[in-house]
Amino acid sequence: MSDFARRIPKAELHVHIEGTLEPELMFELAQRNGLTLPYLSAQAAREAHTFQNLQAFLDLYYAGCSVLRTEGDFFELTRAYLARAAGQGVRHAEVFFDPQTHTVRGVPMEAVVHGIQRALQEGEARFGISSRLILCFLRHLPEQAADQTLDQALALGNAITAVGLDSSEAGNPPSRFQRVFERAADAGLLAVAHAGEEGPPEYIWEALDLLHARRIDHGVRCARDERLMERLADEQVPLTICPLSNVKLRVFASLEQHNLRWLLERGLLVTVNSDDPAYFGGYVADNFEAVEEALGLDQDQVVTLAKNSFLASFLTPDEKARQLQEVDRFNAQASSKTTS
Ligand code: HPA
Ligand code: ZN
Repeated sequence: MSDFARRIPKAELHVHIEGTLEPELMFELAQRNGLTLPYLSAQAAREAHTFQNLQAFLDLYYAGCSVLRTEGDFFELTRAYLARAAGQGVRHAEVFFDPQTHTVRGVPMEAVVHGIQRALQEGEARFGISSRLILCFLRHLPEQAADQTLDQALALGNAITAVGLDSSEAGNPPSRFQRVFERAADAGLLAVAHAGEEGPPEYIWEALDLLHARRIDHGVRCARDERLMERLADEQVPLTICPLSNVKLRVFASLEQHNLRWLLERGLLVTVNSDDPAYFGGYVADNFEAVEEALGLDQDQVVTLAKNSFLASFLTPDEKARQLQEVDRFNAQASSKTTS
């Protein structure tokens, strides 16, 4: 198989930076910070990565986060992600982070934000990857905790482009966070939200109508609501789909049964992303290759997915146009090679 899907220029719009913590770095940071992990080795940690559902994953993910203590830890984490992303055709990354899982452990918000930000700036100089930072509120905690987190983030200036909503979805509807999203919008921040991963289509409606989300993270359960499908297609609301994540967390029984191709062919603005690649067995190009093969996508569909990733991004219209030209150039070069 060609490496077309691997190399095509793309944006990553759904990656939790804490979910890029590979077991080897987890062990290194644990040792440096004087912590013990519940695994004997990095290999044993990797073998523990089988999950019955989202909550089972989150329990391990938050335990893994506990090794991140200093600004330097967040810098190294983010630098390692960008080095991997560069090898996967990533030209632009909109990165989620979960400050509440760190601030409750006494890590200052500044250490988290500055560590990530410094690595993102270095990544732009070193790999030419542009970026945005998206602060996610943990939806299993009260809205009041999200309010405090927003205040802490706003005090750091304009490091953040958007707010998001993640963690345990079932029983934690977007409507519980309407006020804090309003405050974020008043401060000039954009909005996205995880909805319709395990939760019902109603949560996607709420994310759109109450939180004014510009993109829906996952969103695959929209397929259960025809009126919602029509709205998502009409308004070209992007879905940031994470195929390998969906199989690992049993949202779909197998990649072959994933609805990504069907949503794409119904005219929805579908993108492919990695979510928590250190836990789900693949970075973004690995996700592209996996769906290309399992769903039998043709080259035009891979190009559409790559273009959608830039169209759905928070880049300026000029930056989008430049990136779309890069996709066209790559496609033209690849086509001329196969015909010559
Ligand atoms: N879903 C919800 N919350 C998350 C995820 C996810 O896949 N990854 C990290 N936090
Ligand atoms: Zn996610």
